Amino acid sequence: MTEHNNVQTLNQFIIQRQADYPNASGELSRLLHHIGIASKIVNRAVNKAGLVDVLGAHGDQNVQGEDQQKLDVFADTHFINALRASGECAAIASEENEDIIIFDDAMGRNAKYVFCMDPLDGSSNIDVNVSIGTIFSIYQRVSKKGELPTKEDFLQEGTKQVAAGYVIYGSSTMLVYTTGNGVNGFTLDPSIGEFCLSHPNIKTPKNGSIYSINEGNYINLPAGVKKYIKYCQEKDPKTNRPYTSRYIGSLVADFHRNLLKGGIFIYPNTSANSNGKLRLLYECNPIAFIAEQAGGKATNGVERILKIKPDSIHQRVPFYTGSSAMVKKAEDFLDFFNNI
Ligand code: AHG
Ligand code: MN
Ligand code: MN
Repeated sequence: MTEHNNVQTLNQFIIQRQADYPNASGELSRLLHHIGIASKIVNRAVNKAGLVDVLGAHGDQNVQGEDQQKLDVFADTHFINALRASGECAAIASEENEDIIIFDDAMGRNAKYVFCMDPLDGSSNIDVNVSIGTIFSIYQRVSKKGELPTKEDFLQEGTKQVAAGYVIYGSSTMLVYTTGNGVNGFTLDPSIGEFCLSHPNIKTPKNGSIYSINEGNYINLPAGVKKYIKYCQEKDPKTNRPYTSRYIGSLVADFHRNLLKGGIFIYPNTSANSNGKLRLLYECNPIAFIAEQAGGKATNGVERILKIKPDSIHQRVPFYTGSSAMVKKAEDFLDFFNNI
């Protein structure tokens, strides 16, 4: 029996943190609590994916023209239901839905927050039992309470996020989030059905020796990125090179490993994706908020991700994130080759 005498559950942590902010009125706490509930429901399905009918394609395509997996739709549905039940969310922008989802009932109309999410990140890995995740980002609405939320509620700079996080359904299931005062990680203890604080105040190493990029795209990459990859592969014991290449195709899992060990994750613009593949609102902004709160960096190769003013809810951006010294080095290569 695991000792629980000094373990702090997610709810205890949220309540304790709320006490640190006297003017916090509990709405955000309730929202985070419901995110925890939806994560447990998705986790249960992920853990049984081989046994229950959640594997394989759903049969439709999402707005990105990507084949939806059954678990994409399952996760989307359960997060939407949990957020509606929280009464604290006015509307959602989800990777799996072309338009925003508005909760046009009494609770939703008077709710303070809007929610962006990638309900299931790493869909290509669902059927082969590789770690996948959920990514979320929370803003205070700019539309007035009582009025219908609009797209403007979602087209806010990432610096305006009030909270952001991800769930990683891996060898253990973890919820990692920030409200702008550091990053904390909670591991799900299935024996009590609670997320328990396991990684307090996560800080990412300034430097690292892991680089994560899909090198299958090599010939279609910008010159500066090609040069940076070669830099990572050169032998130089003084700078701990050659680095190790690690890439499993789930942003949450690749980012989480690099966050804890140090490293850089890159999804640049390629000839197939001229603005990169990852979406600003519900992949890059929340991951960038966490990266910066943990002492790391997140840019589009030129400017902070969090300073980009979105112009559409499914907008894609090139993404460089992780250990600050490594992101800076990659940017130096980009800068040199963009200006020769
Ligand atoms: P999603 O499953 O939500 O569409 O996200 C997949 C993303 C991201 O998780 C991962 O880093 C990237 O796609 C992998 O893309 P490639 O297979 O092109 O490398
Ligand atoms: Mn994704
Ligand atoms: Mn997804």
